[in-house]
Amino acid sequence: MASKTAICGRLLDFTADPAEVGADASYRYIPNGAIVIEDGKIASIGPATDLPAGMPVDDYGQALIMPGLIDTHIHYPQTRVIASYGAQLLEWLDKYTFVEEQKFADPDHAASVARFFFDELLRNGTTTAAVYCTVHPESVEAFFTESDRLNTLMIAGKVMMDRNAPEALTDTAAQSAADSADLIAKWHGRGRQNYAVTPRFAVTSSEAQLEAAGALLRDNPGVYMQTHLAENHAEIAAVREQFPWSRSYTDIYDRFGLLGPRAIFGHGIHLSDEEIARLSETNSTVAFCPTSNLFIGSGLFDMARLRNGGVKVGLATDVGGGTSFSMLRTAAEAYKVLQLNNQNLPALQAFHMMTRGNAGVLGLADRIGTLEPGSDADITVLNASATPAMAHRMETVDGDLEEELFVLMTLGDDRSTVATYVAGERLYGAGKT
Ligand code: GUN
Ligand code: FE
Repeated sequence: MASKTAICGRLLDFTADPAEVGADASYRYIPNGAIVIEDGKIASIGPATDLPAGMPVDDYGQALIMPGLIDTHIHYPQTRVIASYGAQLLEWLDKYTFVEEQKFADPDHAASVARFFFDELLRNGTTTAAVYCTVHPESVEAFFTESDRLNTLMIAGKVMMDRNAPEALTDTAAQSAADSADLIAKWHGRGRQNYAVTPRFAVTSSEAQLEAAGALLRDNPGVYMQTHLAENHAEIAAVREQFPWSRSYTDIYDRFGLLGPRAIFGHGIHLSDEEIARLSETNSTVAFCPTSNLFIGSGLFDMARLRNGGVKVGLATDVGGGTSFSMLRTAAEAYKVLQLNNQNLPALQAFHMMTRGNAGVLGLADRIGTLEPGSDADITVLNASATPAMAHRMETVDGDLEEELFVLMTLGDDRSTVATYVAGERLYGAGKT
C-alpha cells in the first residue's frame, strides 16, 4: 500500500471564477486544514483535526497553502536576457534575445540554463508553465529532460523561425516540421510533459512554415500551439507588409489553422473587434504579460475588452521581456496596468487567475490549479508576512483573507514562498514537522 503524507496550514483554492460567481461563492478556505497526499495526488482535504494519528505531516502553521502557481507564457532561454536596457520589441529581439538564444545550440549550455530555470520557477511557487525553447531541438531536449526528472507538468516546444532572424537561429519550413514532429513523438504525453507547436510570431515565419505548423496541429490532436500576437506597433506594421493579403494579424494565424482551444497567444494588446471575435469563436487564449508590456513599452492590456468579448485570458510573466519570475509580482503589475485603464483586479480574481484560471485556459483544470481530491499534488505554501515591510503591513490586517491576499500579491515575491511541492514531492523549502 502506498504511504500517505499530509501538509497542514491554511488551505485556499477556488471552485469558480470570482468574476463570474462573486467573491464569496468562488473559493474554499479551511483555516486549520490538512491535505492528504498519496501517489503524487491529493487524496483528500479537510480539517487537520481529522488526520489519523501517526501520519507524517509537514505543518506550516499560519502559512497559506494553495495550488501551485501557473505561468501561461515564458521563455526559458531568456533567463539571462531579463533586465536588458533600452529597447522596444524588434530592437530588443535583435540586440539581446537573438544573441543569447544562439548559445542554445550547445546542449550543455541548454541543460545548465534549464536547471537554473526550474530552480527559479519552484522558488517562486510556480509548478506549471507554457514555455518557449529556442530553434534548436537540443534546447527542447534539455528542457523536457529536466522537467521529466523533476516530474513537473510543463508545456513547451521548439521555436520555429525561418526568416528575419540571424542565420544561426533559423530553420526551414521542412526542417522545423520534421524536428517538431520528432519532439512531439518523443515528449508529448511522456510522464507529465506536453508539447506546444511554437512558431515564434508571424514576423519570423514564412507562409510555408505557418502552413507546416497548422499541419502539425491537425496531425497531433491534444498538442498545444503558442505564439505572439499584436504586441507592438512596429511589429504589427511589419506583419502587415509581409502578409499583404491578410485582413489582420490574427487573420494570418487563422488562415493557417492556428487558432483553437489549445492555442495561447502572447500579449494581444492591439486587436480589432473582429480579431477579438475570432479569438473568442475559436476558444483561443490570450496571455496577459504585464511586466513585459510595461518594460518593453508595448502598451496597456485591455482585459475587460477581451473578457467581455468572450476571450479566455491567462496571466503570464513573459521572462525575459518580463522582469520577474514571480507570479505574485506579475499580478501586482497586472493590477497597475488595469488601474491605468480604469479597471480593477481584486485579489481573489488575481489568485484565481494564477491557479484555477490559468489551469482552465490550458484545459488542465481537472489535473492542476485546485486542491480538489484527485488532482495532482502540485502545491505552493505562501507567507504574506515574509519581509519586514510585509509583516508590518500585515499587523493592520485583522484576519481579512482578501486583504491578506492583496498584501501578498502587491508586496510578495520569491521571498514569500515557504515551500513548493510537485506531484506530492517537496522540491523547494523546508518541511516543518
Ligand atoms: N515576439 C516575438 N518573440 C518574442 C519574444 O521573445 N518576447 C516577446 N516579448 N515578444 C516576442
Ligand atoms: Fe514572449
